[in-house]
Amino acid sequence: MNALVAIILLFPLFISAQSGNANSIKANEDQMREQMIVISRQLGVTCTTCHNTDNFKSDKKDAFKIGKEHMRLTQVLIDNGMNGKNAPKADCYMCHRGQLKPDYKEKASLKR
Ligand code: HEC
Ligand code: HEC
Repeated sequence: MNALVAIILLFPLFISAQSGNANSIKANEDQMREQMIVISRQLGVTCTTCHNTDNFKSDKKDAFKIGKEHMRLTQVLIDNGMNGKNAPKADCYMCHRGQLKPDYKEKASLKR
């Protein structure tokens, strides 16, 4: 009985894993493109801030490397509760506010 339930629940996963690899690659590309548009907007930059457009895989630019780190960081925040359920969902805008170099230091005038 339990095995049957498991098979029924998992069946769609088997199908999507086996059929349409081309479809899932396309879906991943669309998702990546969408993510890239969002992060560019949230940082107030264009693609070339991080990419050499001849080779989007290149990690030569510092902004690419830091951007990759911060994508991981943002995912850590999401995985640790900033997921839009009981807390806001973490994204680049949360810290960057439309700027590549957000002003993150507490002003001296606020300290006493
Ligand atoms: C803040 C830096 C940053 C900006 C801005 C940015 N990207 Fe990216 N992009 C990355 C990083 C980092 C990766 C690698 C992600 C990974 O490996 O998970 C990536 C991956 C990609 C890839 C996949 C490359 C591959 O592995 O095949 C494409 C295509 C891409 N970006 C296009 C764009 C486009 C188009 C824009 C502008 C709309 C853009 N990116 C803006 C940092 C950036
Ligand atoms: C928890 C806060 C936080 C989040 C979330 C965050 N960043 Fe950052 N990011 C910073 C701070 C702070 C700096 C450093 C600014 C400086 O050095 O002046 C920075 C710097 C960067 C830089 C380097 C800018 C430069 O040229 O010096 C890039 C690129 C970047 N972040 C990309 C991203 C992307 C892409 C995301 C979303 C996937 C993201 N960050 C999410 C806080 C954050």
